[in-house]
Amino acid sequence: METNKIIVGNMKMNLTFDEISNYIYKLEKHKNFIICPSSIYIPFFLKEGFTVGIQNVSEYGVGAYTGEISVNQATSMGVKYTLVGHSERRTYFKEDDDIINLKLRKSVSNNLISILCIGETSEEKEAGKTLETIKKQLKKDLHDIASEYYENIIIAYEPVWAIGTGKVPTNEEIDANVTFIKETVKNDFDFEPKILYGGSINEKNIEELNKIKSIDGFLVGGACLIPDKIIKIIETIS
Ligand code: PGA
Repeated sequence: METNKIIVGNMKMNLTFDEISNYIYKLEKHKNFIICPSSIYIPFFLKEGFTVGIQNVSEYGVGAYTGEISVNQATSMGVKYTLVGHSERRTYFKEDDDIINLKLRKSVSNNLISILCIGETSEEKEAGKTLETIKKQLKKDLHDIASEYYENIIIAYEPVWAIGTGKVPTNEEIDANVTFIKETVKNDFDFEPKILYGGSINEKNIEELNKIKSIDGFLVGGACLIPDKIIKIIETIS
């Protein structure tokens, strides 16, 4: 069954070759989601007809950047999506909003649909600065992108405190923050991107989260690594 909601699976730096082979085999009949594996495994997923996203791309175009993957390399393989600004990239790899903006501009202008991840830390939430944080990220990350490329932008609202922690905001909190994102993007940039929620989604809470009318889909981390769990998630929202 087809769903009109978007599901993205972010595998992060997980699974070995044998585990990936088994995963692809088990997901054979469940390809209606976007899978973001470690880059080294991307060709296997593409070969089997999955829709594939890359977890990270370089802000540079081409050349002497050891260890990096360019946007054009990704699209030339058949990769359709990329994550940009995931909180783990922001935290562990020190990607600030200026770098994220460069990556986003490079991706969207080269037809790689970009899933821009934004969200507040627990400190920011506790200080009552959630909306301020979101607004600041949107302002910097979306800066100076030509409007012709807006259609290549999806936004994922991922509270940092909910990622990999088992903590999930209430549906009301998610709805309020997603509505704020929509209004801010409409007022400040005049477009209406699709918005995903991400953070500790699993096969048990997906039914409840799926009641939120304002969101267009889900970004799943840990639970996408286990075939039965991601299959249940896909089936629940189909
Ligand atoms: P999680 O990760 O589902 O494991 O919380 C979500 C993400 O990092 O996108």
